[in-house]
Amino acid sequence: MEKTIIEKINEAAAYLKSQFSEQPKVGIILGTGLGGLVNEIKIEKSIKYEDIPHFPVSTVQGHSGRMIIGTIGNVPVLAMQGRFHYYEGYKMEQVTFPARVMKVAGINTLFVSNASGGLNPTFKVGDIMIITDHINMFGTNPLIGPNLEEFGPRFPDMSEVYSKRLTKMALEIAQKNGISLKQGVYVGTTGPTFETPSEYKMFRTLGGDAVGMSTVPEVIIAHHAGMEIFGISIITDSGVPGEIVEVSHEEVQKVAGAAEPLMTKVIKELVIEEFKK
Ligand code: HPA
Repeated sequence: MEKTIIEKINEAAAYLKSQFSEQPKVGIILGTGLGGLVNEIKIEKSIKYEDIPHFPVSTVQGHSGRMIIGTIGNVPVLAMQGRFHYYEGYKMEQVTFPARVMKVAGINTLFVSNASGGLNPTFKVGDIMIITDHINMFGTNPLIGPNLEEFGPRFPDMSEVYSKRLTKMALEIAQKNGISLKQGVYVGTTGPTFETPSEYKMFRTLGGDAVGMSTVPEVIIAHHAGMEIFGISIITDSGVPGEIVEVSHEEVQKVAGAAEPLMTKVIKELVIEEFKK
């Protein structure tokens, strides 16, 4: 008989736990072109997704598909280098599987990063945005289906999904380090198309500051499970009328890679400040 989702999550989490030398304090999901944060991790183990029981396998370019166990400034972390996107054809249950595994593996804080198109006209390509809220435009919800009561309630409150406390800390860290951070609302869509000019305009009208093809599913699942969430988005291209130019995955990776050192600095300092003993 096929195993239940709970059994699969528990088996994957048990496997990861057997690999930890210390309980990770934070889970980190690295977005497109942003895997370089891994260079700041003192790596203890790097596990291919295919070696973790029941894990989906990542395919998109720019994602190498590994779970990294290690430390950032002595803080034990678990980082996903490469995530699963809905547009790849995974079911929502697969896209969000790792977030639930992290929770069962004892992690209560989740940091997420992504690349996105800018909608707010004051944003420039290369800017870094702290995600203050999101709009789910996936046309579905990862919590549809029987509620997994062991994680959270049927009807989760969404009044503060992204931690105001961690946002405040990140802003202070950025200021101390002379890094300018924007804040805004992330619109999550399925992709794989980038937006037409009219779609960018629509998302701006709806209240979005940036749009991308990830993050929202994992964040909904993590929030349902009671995790504290901090999200950061790199603006890799502009969806602002008059500024829109042709965009490609390569360009997105290039811009994300260029902005990455600053994002990495913020995340690194935030991990250390939050979890130093
Ligand atoms: N739209 C959607 N996803 C994206 C974009 C965009 O403009 N840039 C990077 N990811």
